Amino acid sequence: MEFSHKSVLLDECIEGLAIRPDGIYLDGTLGGAGHSYEIAKRLMTGRLIGVDRDTVALEAAAIRLAPFAERVTTVHSNFSELDRILDDLGIDAVDGMLFDLGVSSPQLDDAQRGFSYMADAPLDMRMNRDDALTAYEVVNTWQPEELRRILCEYGEERYAPQIAAAIVRKRGEAPIETTLELVDVIRSAMPPQALREKQHPAKRSFQAIRIAVNDELGAVSKLMKTAFRRLKPGGRLCVITFHSLEDRIVKSEMQQAARGCTCPPEFPVCVCGKKPIARIISRKPIISGEAELEENPRARSAKLRVAEKI
Ligand SMILES: C[S@@+](CC[C@H](N)C(=O)[O-])C[C@H]1O[C@@H](n2cnc3c(N)ncnc32)[C@H](O)[C@@H]1O
Repeated sequence: MEFSHKSVLLDECIEGLAIRPDGIYLDGTLGGAGHSYEIAKRLMTGRLIGVDRDTVALEAAAIRLAPFAERVTTVHSNFSELDRILDDLGIDAVDGMLFDLGVSSPQLDDAQRGFSYMADAPLDMRMNRDDALTAYEVVNTWQPEELRRILCEYGEERYAPQIAAAIVRKRGEAPIETTLELVDVIRSAMPPQALREKQHPAKRSFQAIRIAVNDELGAVSKLMKTAFRRLKPGGRLCVITFHSLEDRIVKSEMQQAARGCTCPPEFPVCVCGKKPIARIISRKPIISGEAELEENPRARSAKLRVAEKI
């Protein structure tokens, strides 16, 4: 299957990274290497480290990046393991990092991966097929309360209690095996007016289960606690998010890194000694322009935030 993914906010990321031809850059979500191709192209003596937790993406990226093979290293890992990835490569700090979060179009389009509510497939949804947890486990074994929580928190699904109850009822008869079986259960729990909405009735629930299966928010939180420590002074961190939950984590960690003294205002002198370690480059999140939105609907929810290590 051809790996075809339209990179989002490509020019804005390249500008945000302020690439130096001799720098070391890390793309933590290599995917089809759309962003990485543009980074690698700008390097002379520099180096690009491309990380992805999905081996299918790594194979496609290696082909795309073949013209620059001597300056590219690919790593099969979770970006939450940033410290380990860089330690293993003997790299202290890099000149820039990019994270384009979420799933790629090929992951969604390959029905067998089980991400799509449009095609029937076993309930999987793992980005890394070596991981143990699948959507099948979540749907068929997680406690009703936990199901309700993820549907509500990660999917912002209004009918979370009803959907969780319907899943528990159905799996009491027989395990829910496939994506389309799950879609039927979700539909059965929603009132008729909700089924008439423009958005597919299973969209939010599928997003919630995918986030849980891949611990997507946990990975972003862990990354954001590490990233600035592994950037050189002047090094840029660019993160593209696709929903408010991720964006909230990225925004708050960038603000925290940019904050100095946290003593109460009534203290005459600072006793906390906290100094800012970063400066925020994008006061407001950078979003796609009209032209990009027209040709790539995925870009609609994308937000890019950029910060620089001091
Ligand atoms: C939106 S796509 C990236 C597309 C890429 N920027 C391009 O232009 O082709 C996201 C990719 O990140 C990977 N990914 C998501 N979360 C990850 C994580 N925690 N660690 C490593 N890779 C991750 C996914 O497997 C997917 O291939």
